[in-house]
Amino acid sequence: MEISLQGRSALITGGSEGLGKGMAIRFAASGANVAIVARRPEILGSAKAEVDAAGTGKVVALPCDLLDPAATVQAFKDAEQALGKIDILVNNAGTSRAKPFESVTDEEWYEDLELKLMAAVRLCRTALPAMKQRKWGRIINVLNIGAKAPRAGGAPTVVSRAAGLALTKVLASDGAPHNVLVNALMVGLIKSGQWERAFTEADNSGDYEVFVQDMANDRNIPLGRIGETEEFANIACFLASDQAGYITGTSINVDGGASPVV
Ligand SMILES: NC(=O)c1ccc[n+]([C@@H]2O[C@H](COP(=O)([O-])OP(=O)(O)OC[C@H]3O[C@@H](n4cnc5c(N)ncnc54)[C@H](OP(=O)(O)O)[C@@H]3O)[C@@H](O)[C@H]2O)c1
Repeated sequence: MEISLQGRSALITGGSEGLGKGMAIRFAASGANVAIVARRPEILGSAKAEVDAAGTGKVVALPCDLLDPAATVQAFKDAEQALGKIDILVNNAGTSRAKPFESVTDEEWYEDLELKLMAAVRLCRTALPAMKQRKWGRIINVLNIGAKAPRAGGAPTVVSRAAGLALTKVLASDGAPHNVLVNALMVGLIKSGQWERAFTEADNSGDYEVFVQDMANDRNIPLGRIGETEEFANIACFLASDQAGYITGTSINVDGGASPVV
């Protein structure tokens, strides 16, 4: 099955690194115009060059801190203006933030919910009217397998992600009569910028592949390895396409079998 995003325009938050950049490259290679949003302009700039090289469509890079509500909505509007429309919204930006429950402060709770839930709420609210009017839309929420199988030490992230799962279901019902399809991708352990940074901080004299394999071994992943960014981008590209036209309101684990629940 050939997946084409020809004629579509996508906005991907956290598109400068890791899974977001991987999706941006995959979407561009499949024919889409792509807007990527993240905070650090220099990393965003080099990601834009990579996404540009992957396809022939238009690519825009918009520096924005998604913790700022007004800037978030403005980034969407700038992307819409630059690309003409936004057909596909991927709420992907996030940080790894899980620690012992008793040490998570109110500020950390609010910041996690702002970035992982409220930024997505604001972008969906801004994106939906035009998607509904055009009778075509795709929203993909990138979450975490911990949302469905929370464990000690998972807060605040897994709580924010569980809210993202509920948001996915609410928006799927809301969007279905208008052919706006909304799904979630539940990430297990996949190669990305955050693991490259963790490797550099831990021991950059070693081998990155050994570092990530050790992480996979620690987590007892049934497939026995960490996921590749491209493997994640492939399923996102499918969900963003016409070929996924009968799939909405669901979540897909992209985790090598790690989650104890479906
Ligand atoms: N990779 C995994 O194994 C894994 C596991 C579970 C969940 N996830 C989730 O998957 C998503 C992607 O993760 P990743 O591993 O690809 O992470 P990553 O490599 O660290 O990339 C995160 C992206 O989000 C952007 N970002 C972070 N905070 C932001 C903010 N306040 N405003 C705007 N952009 C922001 C970053 O750019 P700037 O820092 O420049 O803003 C970057 O582009 C995240 O939501 C993460 O929680 C990943």
